[in-house]
Amino acid sequence: MTDKIRERLIAGNWKMYKTVSEAVDYIQALRPLVANSQAKIYLAVPYTAIHAAAEAAKESSIVIGAQNMNDASEGAFTGEISGKMLADAGAKFVILGHSERRQIFGETSAYINRKVKRALQDGLQPVVCVGESAEQRASKATEVVVKGQLLESLEGLTAEQLQHIVLAYEPVWAIGTGVTATPEEAQQMHHFCRATVTEKWGQEAADKILILYGGSVKRENAAAILQESDIDGLLVGGASLKPEVFQQIVNA
Ligand code: PGA
Repeated sequence: MTDKIRERLIAGNWKMYKTVSEAVDYIQALRPLVANSQAKIYLAVPYTAIHAAAEAAKESSIVIGAQNMNDASEGAFTGEISGKMLADAGAKFVILGHSERRQIFGETSAYINRKVKRALQDGLQPVVCVGESAEQRASKATEVVVKGQLLESLEGLTAEQLQHIVLAYEPVWAIGTGVTATPEEAQQMHHFCRATVTEKWGQEAADKILILYGGSVKRENAAAILQESDIDGLLVGGASLKPEVFQQIVNA
């Protein structure tokens, strides 16, 4: 009903791939391919490539961001990076709570919540990920898990602040596995996430918030997933690594 007011956003998550020169080559190749695209394009690149990627993407529809950040504004945290540093380097958004951060690096929703608040303070748009594991789905805990992650990760935010957030539903069992949720399965969970936002922050906030689907998105399945009314865009890992492949998803 209200999906027409929401813009379309296709985000690529490069994970730990690409050097500075590879990033610049990629963006130079992608620019002409997406020059007429209706969708907004986000690329979450490695920290080291943010500055060069942002320069290479200037005056294009490609927006550069990061894949993680620390929750502190600065301090003695060896090896960490702050939102201020990311914004200064040219990042406009930051992925927070990706399942690889939650699973491999033990990040909790409470920790992600602190990062979300810091990112907003630092002028970065948080792209907040939620999603259940295969075991959780098998034991019918999907909704409980996703609702818990969503509410805890966004705890304490006002409806106004929520307008600066993008949500991503990424079932863990679909990430990097080649197994995608069917469009119907994805739509059901997107609808559920939107209903959760309605319950907590009201109808207007829910109508406005963009919810991306992620997990083995490919050029072959992108269009069908995007048909669903509560799916506003895609978060693409592996298939975002080649400009000619990513371009086909952007233009799907
Ligand atoms: P994938 O990754 O597209 O390679 O499954 C998606 C993601 O992790 O965001």
